[in-house]
Formats: sequence, structure tokens, C-alpha cells
Amino acid sequence: MAVKNPIIVALDVPTAEQALQLAKAVAPAVGAFKIGSELFTSAGPDIVKKVRATGAAVFLDLKFHDIPNTVAKAVASATRLDVQMLTIHTSGGREMMRAAEKSAQETAAQAGLNAPLVLGVTVLTSHDNATLSEIGFPPDTGRQVERLADLAVKAGLRGLVCSPLEIAALRQVLPSPVQLVTPGIRTGAEKADDQKRTLSPREAMTAGASWLVIGRPIYAAEDPRAAAEKILGSLS
Ligand code: C5P
Repeated sequence: MAVKNPIIVALDVPTAEQALQLAKAVAPAVGAFKIGSELFTSAGPDIVKKVRATGAAVFLDLKFHDIPNTVAKAVASATRLDVQMLTIHTSGGREMMRAAEKSAQETAAQAGLNAPLVLGVTVLTSHDNATLSEIGFPPDTGRQVERLADLAVKAGLRGLVCSPLEIAALRQVLPSPVQLVTPGIRTGAEKADDQKRTLSPREAMTAGASWLVIGRPIYAAEDPRAAAEKILGSLS
């Protein structure tokens, strides 16, 4: 997928009405919309169809993590919804990731659609070395991110989600066609919130991001469309 406008707006709102209102308001200034667990669980697959019907690309962020057969079927369902990106957990292992990528390709071919970009999530940014240790992983988040990223690429994934501060290190070790999608973007204009390790949109693109996931700096702004346009302007 060629990246024209790299801004993905997170539709982190609880209802379909709010999501569609936001999507329609900012669509001309952004590249895609992210639908996550909150909205999908309350509004169902119908919200994906409605956002797609506006002509916008959709990133379905449900972070699948299950046995390979189940993940393959979930990816097939998402592919038939005509999403352009979706997430799976790389800690589901090589076989699960292979099954997900294969399912995306095969389902899309059968349905006459473009295969979605299956993105691997490595280590959640809510984890630190201590929490990794608690769940039995080596207590080194940086090393674990690189290990899982390497496994994801070997399993055939074409993209990863990573924190802005991981982009530069991953770009050193990953083949260049791998797309990196990063949340944790802040412009400096917004109120402080729970994102601790952030980069500006321009810094993240310079570090090697392919796509920027941006939530509150756009949807919580007084004028979301103007906020999105300003961010887009800062990238050129
Ligand atoms: O509002 P904000 O810009 O922080 O939104 C970022 C979006 O990216 C949210 O949907 C959040 O769940 C998601 N995300 C994140 N950090 C991660 C993975 C996903 O902020 N490590």
C-alpha cells in the first residue's frame, strides 16, 4: 500500500454515531482510521462497513492472539470486511503469524480485494522489564522487541506496530520494505496525558515511521479537522 497521507486517526470513541461524525469531519485531512476494541465491541462489524463506505481506509486494531487456525479465521473475517490493516500479537509465534498472513492473502484473492497489511504487535508499551519478567520473558524490552520483530519478518509479516522510540533501532535491523506503524505521537500543543514516551509527527517520520496513529491530539482538539491539517502540514 503506497503511503500518501500517513496519519491514521484512532476512533477511540464509544459509539458508532460519535465515530462516524469524527470520521466525516477529519477524512479529507487524514489517510486512514483505526477502529479498536472499544468501538468494535460496542458497535460491531457494521462500524467497519460504515467507515469504509465513506471511502476511508480502515485499520482494525483487535490484536488477535490465539491458536493459528482461529487467528487465520479471524483474519479472514476482517479481510472480508475490506480493512486495509489489522493487528496480531507476534508472541502468538511464527506459525500463527504465517497462518494470519496466508489467510489475508488467500481470502483477499478469493474476494477480489487487496490483502490487508497484517501488522505484528511486539511488546506492549505498558510492559517494562519487570512486567516482562513476571510473565516469563527475558527482562529486556528492547531485546524482546527486536527478537519478535525479527520473527515476524521471518514469518512473512510486512509490517509492525512499534513505539516511536523503537523506530530507529528497528530500522537498523529490519528489511526496508517493512512498514512501521507508530502510536505515541504528540505535537506539544495538547494537554499532558498517559503517553510518556512520545515523538512529534515529524520526528517519527524522520526516524523511519511509515504511518502515525494519532488519537487525542486530533479527536480531543477543539477543531479536529484543523488539528489534523496542521499535523499534515508539519510533515511537508
Ligand atoms: O490518544 P492517543 O494518540 O494516545 O491514541 C493512541 C492510540 O494508539 C490509541 O488507540 C492506543 O490504544 C493505541 N496504542 C498506543 N500505544 C501502543 C499501542 C497502541 O497508544 N503501544
